Amino acid sequence: MKIHDQYRERVNSRLDRYLSSIPSSSIISSELKDIMKYSVLAGGKRFRPILTYTVASLFNSDIEKADSSACAIELIHIYSLIHDDLPAMDDDDIRHNQPANHKVFGEAQAILAGDGLQALAFSIISSDPLVDADTKIKLLELLSISSYAMAEGQSIDLSIVSKKVDQNILNQMHQKKTGALLNCAIKFGALLNNASENDLSILESFANLVGLAYQVQDDVLDVTTSDEVLGKRQNSDAVKNKPSYPVIIGLDESIKTFENLYQSALNELSDLSVDSEPLRLLTKRLMNRAF
Ligand code: IPE
Ligand code: IPE
Ligand code: MG
Ligand code: MG
Ligand code: MG
Repeated sequence: MKIHDQYRERVNSRLDRYLSSIPSSSIISSELKDIMKYSVLAGGKRFRPILTYTVASLFNSDIEKADSSACAIELIHIYSLIHDDLPAMDDDDIRHNQPANHKVFGEAQAILAGDGLQALAFSIISSDPLVDADTKIKLLELLSISSYAMAEGQSIDLSIVSKKVDQNILNQMHQKKTGALLNCAIKFGALLNNASENDLSILESFANLVGLAYQVQDDVLDVTTSDEVLGKRQNSDAVKNKPSYPVIIGLDESIKTFENLYQSALNELSDLSVDSEPLRLLTKRLMNRAF
């Protein structure tokens, strides 16, 4: 099995184990734990945890030490998707090829599932016996700043619906709503291993480029790719009148833009103090993703 698939299976099993370990209240048939599980275990590419494991592996770390960080970043991501699909936000009905959380459990329970996942993300890191206290504080600080940036990006996204904005505004929004969590996933791998300031700063530049590239590409895929392949609705942005890269600069230029951003990200890695090949391979995988 390829290493990225191994990481995906690993985070899937850790997430399942973690959510299953939450005590049941069993007062009612459908409880918050099951509502969260519905979305967490539905799949998804798991690129954020795969990034955490891959960066951690560059520094020869014990993979077990990265499990809580890998799960935490994915829990925040899933919470962001549950809320993103709500009628008050993007009003989408399909996610990961199944009905969106609120379509099954209702809006109130979907909001609470997101709230719960966010809290659990912080708890899974703070209770990890394998990570020392100083490192935990660094991880939790980064996670909180990044989660806030994601929420801020989502707020900007909704405030500019139907408006004409320039590329600069779009870049700032993309960096926040999507870049921030990818940046967090990447730096988690380095913080877990006390990476040097120089390596952290290289990874920061790399992550900022990848984060922007990833959302420009998401905007492109929204236009070019079917519901079945995406696992979510095609043309969701156009239907909602969202300013997006293809709207502002056209499809071909948008494709060139994200490819150039990934290329620039790869160029950043040459001065890393460790062999960056596994991260380069993963970056190429992101660049060539079909959904
Ligand atoms: C979708 O992210 C939302 C964005 C922030 C671009 P992903 O494409 O990584 O979501 P998964 O793989 O379906 O979980
Ligand atoms: C999502 O951006 C960013 C999040 C923080 C969830 P989109 O709204 O474009 O994501 P999709 O296309 O619904 O996955
Ligand atoms: Mg959105
Ligand atoms: Mg959306
Ligand atoms: Mg999108």
